[in-house]
Amino acid sequence: MRPPFLSVFPLTGTGIMRSPILRFFSLFPLLLLAAGACGPSAEKGPGGTPEDPWVIGMSQCNLGEPWRVQMDADVRAAADAYPTLRVIFKDAQNNALTQRAQVEELVEQGVDLIIISPKEAAPLTRPVAEAYQRGIPVIVLDREVQGDQFTTFIGADNVRIGRAAGAWIRERLGGEGKIVELKGHMTTTPGQDRNQGFLEGLALDRSPGLELVFTGEMQWLEPNARREMESALATNPRIDVVYAHNDPGAHGAWLAARAAGREEEMLFVGIDALPHEGRQYVQQGILDATFLYPTGGGEAIEVALAILGGEAVPKKIVLGTRLFTQENAAAGGEPISQEK
Ligand code: FRU
Repeated sequence: MRPPFLSVFPLTGTGIMRSPILRFFSLFPLLLLAAGACGPSAEKGPGGTPEDPWVIGMSQCNLGEPWRVQMDADVRAAADAYPTLRVIFKDAQNNALTQRAQVEELVEQGVDLIIISPKEAAPLTRPVAEAYQRGIPVIVLDREVQGDQFTTFIGADNVRIGRAAGAWIRERLGGEGKIVELKGHMTTTPGQDRNQGFLEGLALDRSPGLELVFTGEMQWLEPNARREMESALATNPRIDVVYAHNDPGAHGAWLAARAAGREEEMLFVGIDALPHEGRQYVQQGILDATFLYPTGGGEAIEVALAILGGEAVPKKIVLGTRLFTQENAAAGGEPISQEK
């Protein structure tokens, strides 16, 4: 019933096969060391039948944000195709301590594998490491934990996305303009990486006409982004572009600009590109660009099946991205261009 491991790759319309590691891995599976060759524990029996299915614990950091609702839906849809799998979903309601307790509960329940999308790296590192050390394979999705005590990490390359956003903005502004950056949460790896990549892509040292006039932290949330943007607007008579670390942030900034009657003065760029959120904003002319940040939910289930089947998987699986603009959104966006 379980698909062969290579079936992981065709699933990924997001560009997973472009990763050289994965190409190498797909050609020489036996040569690679299992990153966390931590298989299902023997005393649980073979599992993986409709009568005795594998049990996967899915620890989600919150379901208050549309992107995370989509991630759980992707996990559910992929798992539903396998009667040999059952998934227990946990929602930590954006509280790292709750998430930590939920991971511990899943371990105590004796699940066969854990998928976690952690709220923040530091507080979730230990519970993940403890589960892994007890022989439970752990797939870390989207946001990272510290160290290497987990089986595999699946996610898009946030530095690359930030760099592409910075380069796109530099080009659109023609090397001159005033920029606002609304950061996600700087205790999370996507926040740190989207900021680092953005600064690299903007290359402020080579573009004296570009100026970062305001930065704020909005914890990934639209209302916070709106408040931060109100401050940016109040202190800056001219703004040419807003780069927000996610689409809810970019939309919050647009709402603030519109309330001030200034939304036509600037461009709005976000990240996530959910079909019913960011992509729709682009098609409605609210955002000028958004970069796809795939949830990885479907890939996580395929990789989980491979691990449960005793196969070795790479330590890191990098998902691809796409750029959606007003010119290309209706046609499905385009792969991000070569970095400059
Ligand atoms: C949802 C979210 C997404 C973002 C991701 C980063 O919680 O903020 O919008 O892309 O998390 O981890």
